[in-house]
Amino acid sequence: MKSLTLVKLGGSVITQKQVSPPTVNMMAISRIAKELRTHQGPLIVVLGGGAHGHQAAHIYGFGDPSTPLEKLLAGIPSIRHNMTLLSLEVEQALNANGIPSVVIPPYSSVSMHDGEIMNFPIDIIKWTLEAHCAVIIHGDVCLDDVQGASILSGDTISVYLAKALDIQRVFIGTDVDGIFEEDPRVNPNATLVSVIDSSNKDSVLAGAGTSAATDVTGGMARKAQELLELASQTTQVAIFNLTVPGRLTALLADKSTTCTRMEC
Ligand code: IPE
Repeated sequence: MKSLTLVKLGGSVITQKQVSPPTVNMMAISRIAKELRTHQGPLIVVLGGGAHGHQAAHIYGFGDPSTPLEKLLAGIPSIRHNMTLLSLEVEQALNANGIPSVVIPPYSSVSMHDGEIMNFPIDIIKWTLEAHCAVIIHGDVCLDDVQGASILSGDTISVYLAKALDIQRVFIGTDVDGIFEEDPRVNPNATLVSVIDSSNKDSVLAGAGTSAATDVTGGMARKAQELLELASQTTQVAIFNLTVPGRLTALLADKSTTCTRMEC
């Protein structure tokens, strides 16, 4: 499909991550919708969980291998409900800004095996794009034949779809400028890595991986690792700061902006 673009909206940008009960960041969502409107062509928007996904996932013990099956299963309704609320807010904002779009929730079609995707039908996504609708898909809780239920993250969805649909551009929006040589929240003078390629890949991943704040750069190191695989095919990949107005617009227009690009 011509110039198919995937944009991940990080949960820490589109929700108020520290607020409970989960609250959407409407200002950010409507500004992002306006930036997305500048894109011409097929579009997939992947939502992270933010407050809507992570709070309930934490309460019901996801991510802790000792959590009993019953507790994980008991968490399904509230994670699903919250993620549905978040996705509908984004859907409304996109439609209100002239981007016809529909939500396709993973829970009803994706099955997992021990935390990994086992089955992820993509025909409905293709057909929706062919019907000139943007697809909104979100991190979710999914049924798992080993663990009972497991979390499917927006990052994992992005990488999976980029490979399965041969997506040309993948832009991962977060609340930091990209990948740093060290954790920027520990060292405010840390240097942003503007390009990761085969020459610096190993040292960048090692630096990000040994950082103290595992939820920022631990997550970043994992993101980077997975995304680097994509960049080695024919896909453009960038991690950027979605909290800064204009950067998404620049990426969509193929203009230079502050971010980390992957060019392996
Ligand atoms: C998490 O997705 C999904 C749920 C917890 C249901 P992500 O891990 O991609 O979310 P963010 O972007 O980090 O919040």
